Amino acid sequence: MLGSLLLLVPLVGAAIIGPRDVQCPGYRASNVKESENSLTADLSLAGKACNTYGSDLQNLKLLVEYQTDERLHVMIHDKDEEVYQVPESVFPRPENKDGAKKSSALKFEYKKNPFSFKIKRGDEVLFDTSASDLIFQSQYLGLRTWLPEDPYLYGMGEHTDPMRLETENYTRTTWNRDSYGIPSHSNLYGDHPVYYDHRGESGTHAVFLLNSNGMDVKINKTDDGKQYLEYNILGGVFDFYFLAGPTPKEVSAQYAEIVGLPAMMSYWTFGFHQCRYGYQDVFNVAEVVYNYSQANIPLETMWTDIDYMDRRKIFTLDPKRFPLDKMRQLVDYLHDHDQKYIVMVDPALSVSDNGAFNRGKEQGTLMQHPNGDLYKGKSHTPKEGYKLTNIGVVWPGVAAFPDWFNPKTQDYWNNEFSAFFNANKGVNIDGLWIDMNEASNFCPYPCEDPAKFAKANGNPPTPPPVRENPRPLPGFPEDFQPPKQKRGDRKGKKLGLPDRDLINPKYKIANYAGSISNKTIDTDLIHAGEGYAEYDTHNLYGTMMSTASRNAMEKRRPKVRPLVITRSTFAGAGTGVGHWLGDNLSQWNQYRISIAQMLVFASMFQVPMIGSDVCGFGGNTTEELCARWASLGAFNTFYRNHNELGSISQEFYRWDKVADSAKKAIDIRYRLLDYTYTYFHRQTQRGEPFLMPMFYLYPKDKNTFSNDLQFFYGDGLLVSPVTEEGKTSVDAYFPNDIFYDWYTGRPVRGEGKNKTLSNIDITHIPLHIRGGNIIPLRTSSAMTTTELRKKGFELIIAPGLDGTATGSLYVDDGDSLEQKYTLQVNFEFKDSTLRIDGEFNFGEPIMLEKATLLGQKDMETGKRGADDAVRFVRKGEKMVKEVNFALEKPASIQFRGAN
Ligand code: GLC
Repeated sequence: MLGSLLLLVPLVGAAIIGPRDVQCPGYRASNVKESENSLTADLSLAGKACNTYGSDLQNLKLLVEYQTDERLHVMIHDKDEEVYQVPESVFPRPENKDGAKKSSALKFEYKKNPFSFKIKRGDEVLFDTSASDLIFQSQYLGLRTWLPEDPYLYGMGEHTDPMRLETENYTRTTWNRDSYGIPSHSNLYGDHPVYYDHRGESGTHAVFLLNSNGMDVKINKTDDGKQYLEYNILGGVFDFYFLAGPTPKEVSAQYAEIVGLPAMMSYWTFGFHQCRYGYQDVFNVAEVVYNYSQANIPLETMWTDIDYMDRRKIFTLDPKRFPLDKMRQLVDYLHDHDQKYIVMVDPALSVSDNGAFNRGKEQGTLMQHPNGDLYKGKSHTPKEGYKLTNIGVVWPGVAAFPDWFNPKTQDYWNNEFSAFFNANKGVNIDGLWIDMNEASNFCPYPCEDPAKFAKANGNPPTPPPVRENPRPLPGFPEDFQPPKQKRGDRKGKKLGLPDRDLINPKYKIANYAGSISNKTIDTDLIHAGEGYAEYDTHNLYGTMMSTASRNAMEKRRPKVRPLVITRSTFAGAGTGVGHWLGDNLSQWNQYRISIAQMLVFASMFQVPMIGSDVCGFGGNTTEELCARWASLGAFNTFYRNHNELGSISQEFYRWDKVADSAKKAIDIRYRLLDYTYTYFHRQTQRGEPFLMPMFYLYPKDKNTFSNDLQFFYGDGLLVSPVTEEGKTSVDAYFPNDIFYDWYTGRPVRGEGKNKTLSNIDITHIPLHIRGGNIIPLRTSSAMTTTELRKKGFELIIAPGLDGTATGSLYVDDGDSLEQKYTLQVNFEFKDSTLRIDGEFNFGEPIMLEKATLLGQKDMETGKRGADDAVRFVRKGEKMVKEVNFALEKPASIQFRGAN
């Protein structure tokens, strides 16, 4: 029966026949013990095992912890703790603080037989597992919760579906994958198994399942119309964190308490970045830098893709096209002009490389099978002493992968970085770009002949050959079978059950790439160190490479905040790195969806350094799309133009209109850079998001719940881009509130309706300041962020409907991991008076040169002069400054926007 059902399972997308078609017995709770802040119980299988996708575990344990008053932890694991759990070394657990059942916003209720539980906030049921029996098998976990009708759910990334998740026949699969073109309804590069459930008036909550195994989360209705969400997981344990909210911002902050607060980024990283795949040599890169300056478009950071490498081998330079002396000249030039340089590093090491690959092989830091001396691939003969096992094909051809679980790998990686990226002798990069770390392998499973595959696919590309390099390829014998995971006493070790089929589990997740080992590292690989299986830890590979790379960057420059931009992520990645949204296409639908992607990463996954490839990566862009994207990208925290080898060039200066759009948008972005920095910094301190969907600030306004084409750039700025090709207008939603046009200062009274904004040519992006905010701005923009930091400040005061406004400004040295002196000021506007209050613990003088009050009638435009400016100069002192608008009409204050 099951066999025939499985035959019906499609590989991609559509509904999959799940375990619900087979009756499983569920579990019975006994030995329940309750304390003030916890509950434990034993769970035992309540009937005959159904063994649908592996064998049912007989005995489980339940642990419920009231960790804080807003966070409830519910864990169901095997009694012997043999089953894999996400290692603490990769995902440190949050502290169990002093939550208590009595004071908790969330309540845990349970039924003993069959066991099910509910999570409630007040009387409202948030989660209810009575929707199905619990299934806990050796290679499958199943659990279903009821949800209210027509729920507003978000998260469960990475994906390119609308921000609000579909509620019928919908599957979200998490299995990290190289996903060119980022198709919708597919699993992409990262794994963030958390969903946010927004219920309007009654609040928002989130459910995070700490589990790195492949899974399908299905959202659907039963035949009689009842809404549910269902987990179908290939392994691990149920490790749930329920977050009470109740506001969306609070849920995000509570999530940051679990996954970690995001890393603060240097000031310069918010500048504009230019990249492409296909700069053919260092001269070409230099020309682009030159052209940007000729076009007067600020370029903060120049990037180089794998083109710089010698036949795509990491930690090498193409000696003809990117020779070291020229590369050093380029980097020196950039540094002399206050610009930065970033290059890419992939994980895969070419087996034909005598350098980094050999050192990795010697140090044993590359992946191996446990028996050490063989790797698969029928056409190869093993070479003496050759220990590599997991070989795939990536850009440089046949390649092996570092094993981040090996305790020696960090040192290996540090050494490679400090040698190759040596400030005095190597390529002195300022930041790092890491890619292909899902991990991606072009060679489809079982990849029997990687060399043949590499050759057939032109990896690495042939001309121009730099040196004669016929690669002797190692191999393994005809009869080689990957060894099974060894038995041994694994109780209490949480390493994974023995004797599982790590390649072909019976339950098939809807991996877009087909089987779970396809186009990646074989999932039966056992890692060095503790001995985790790739089957369980696949989704951690990118995040582990991120950590190792951040550490290696920090070793080179121990005092400054490293910038690492990664493609693959797992929950918590934001604590160390930023993310770009991968290989999108130069298409309007991908321009649109980039907004939802960015918002979800920034606010719900706590990866606030985020952005898409501006103008699109794959295919040819157009002047119109690139112009629109140049201004939308200016409101991504990570702002980079990047495109693919073979596509037409798309640097902003290639078209006049695109250049105009970019210049206008960069001008605004740079003047706002300290506002960005202030609120980005707040997110790194408190988890309160900077980039947000509209419902974050209007959680009771239903019209905002699905809006993923407009967004808030901080609390104070509403961005409403034109999103349709050929249009010069946009129907933008304005909640019942007061807004002010960024460009004219004119008030726009929101009425909870759409307003058509028209005559928006392709160089323009509609922006509105949200009433109630005071926005700090630099008085003018600059060609680099170094120059920008020398400018003074002005304030835009945008009173809310009640006539008041608040804001803040945070300034530090822009780069150091540890800050000695910072400026933290709060602004408050009330009763016609601007009050400035805060800690002025900053070395350099900072000038507040003017303030503009929006929305005033009959006000004169005041003059301003240097003497009237507010100077923040006193080090280590608290200072309060009051400017009374009504009485003084101070010369340093300018009024505009009257209507
Ligand atoms: C991957 C990256 C892309 C890069 C290319 C070449 O496709 O996602 O950004 O340009 O590899 O390195």
